[in-house]
Formats: sequence, structure tokens, C-alpha cells
Amino acid sequence: MNYKILNFKIIGDGRGRLVSLESFRNIPFDIKRVYYIYDTNTEPRGFHAHTKLEQVVVALAGSCIFELDDGKNKEIVELNSPDIGLYIGVNMWRIMREFSSDCRLMVLASDYYDENEYIRDYNNFIKICT
Ligand code: TYD
Repeated sequence: MNYKILNFKIIGDGRGRLVSLESFRNIPFDIKRVYYIYDTNTEPRGFHAHTKLEQVVVALAGSCIFELDDGKNKEIVELNSPDIGLYIGVNMWRIMREFSSDCRLMVLASDYYDENEYIRDYNNFIKICT
């Protein structure tokens, strides 16, 4: 399974908490793009894998479930805290579901948006994996 949970250091004091994310320090790639997902509803998202892109997803607020699939095994990860990052490497099919109404997902990506490196067809994904 090409994913891992990153536990970020929380820098906290009486005023609140702060988490710092830095390329090649606590994020295992050069961050080239940041995007965020919010105002979600009950509809699941994702249903794709990437051939080149690496990402780290952080639930800045609320929670959601990630279903991760490497073509052989499926695992479920719940994101529910701003001090946890979900690193997802290449060739991992992902589905995001069960968004809480306050869910705010921030995604750090290793490259610019390029639709050509997406795999959006599950049968095609399985062929690539085997
Ligand atoms: P999509 O891949 O369907 O989102 P999700 O993985 O959450 O299901 O992306 C939705 C739309 O946004 C799609 O038209 C592609 C576009 N998009 C960008 O233009 N730039 C980006 O960085 C991303 C991630 C998506």
C-alpha cells in the first residue's frame, strides 16, 4: 500500500495551535500546488489514481473517510484532525466519502494539475497494477 499517516508536530501555547508543513522536511516531496475541498455533500469524490503525482491530505476541519486501493488490497483511513496528514503515493485508487458538514480538506501536491497523469477508469487501473 503506497500510503502512510504523517503525524505532524503541534506547536501549541496558550493562544492556540500551529502546524508547519515544509517540503522535504515533514512533507516527503517538493510542494508545487495546494488545493482545498469544502462545501461537500453526501456524494463521494475521487475515483481515480495518479501515475506521477504524490499528495498529502489534511482535514483542517471536520472529517471524512478515505478508501485506498492498490489493486490488491483495500484499506480505510479516517481523517479527522489537522495534525494528521495522509500521504498518498502513485498508483493508489482513492475514494473520499462520509464528509462531515464542516469538512475542509487541504491537499498538498507534488506537481501542477495535469489531467493526463490521472487514471480515471478502474478497469484500466487494475490492468496497470497487475
Ligand atoms: P476532480 O478530480 O473530479 O475532484 P475529486 O478528486 O475531488 O473528485 O476535480 C474536479 C474538477 O476540478 C475537475 O474538473 C478538475 C479540476 N481541478 C483543477 O482544475 N485543478 C486541480 O488542481 C484539481 C485537483 C482539480
